[in-house]
Amino acid sequence: MENRELIRLALEARKNAYSPYSGCKVGAALLTADGKVYTGCNIENASFGLTVCAERTAFFRAVGAGEKEFTKIAVTGGKDDKPDSYFYPCGACRQVMSEFCGGDFEIITAVSEDEFTVKTLEELLPLRFGRDNVTE
Ligand code: THU
Repeated sequence: MENRELIRLALEARKNAYSPYSGCKVGAALLTADGKVYTGCNIENASFGLTVCAERTAFFRAVGAGEKEFTKIAVTGGKDDKPDSYFYPCGACRQVMSEFCGGDFEIITAVSEDEFTVKTLEELLPLRFGRDNVTE
């Protein structure tokens, strides 16, 4: 799938953001190895620590549906109706990506369908803590 189309789906998912506290609206669209897309938005809570980011919402929906292999994710966020700056995934989301994705997994951070960056998970989370550290 083209990056533009995945970004379009992330922008669409962003419309569902529930963020009465921060005002930040974030959307994500996650592509599986066999071409399916799972979207997510950020979901805040009055107990602030319970907030879940858009990226993790997308991953948990996908894994909850039985998916385990992913190729890329598009992320878009901002306070206004239209995103105006790059929202790179937070550390917690990078670690969740790391559980299911290799270093070549692509993270597309978009302001619009035409303006985006592409980074690998290896670039955004080098020297990661993983399965090898906790299994024999
Ligand atoms: N947020 C995300 O959805 N993804 C990130 O990677 C960073 C932060 C959300 C969480 C919260 O609702 C708002 O942005 C401000 O932190």
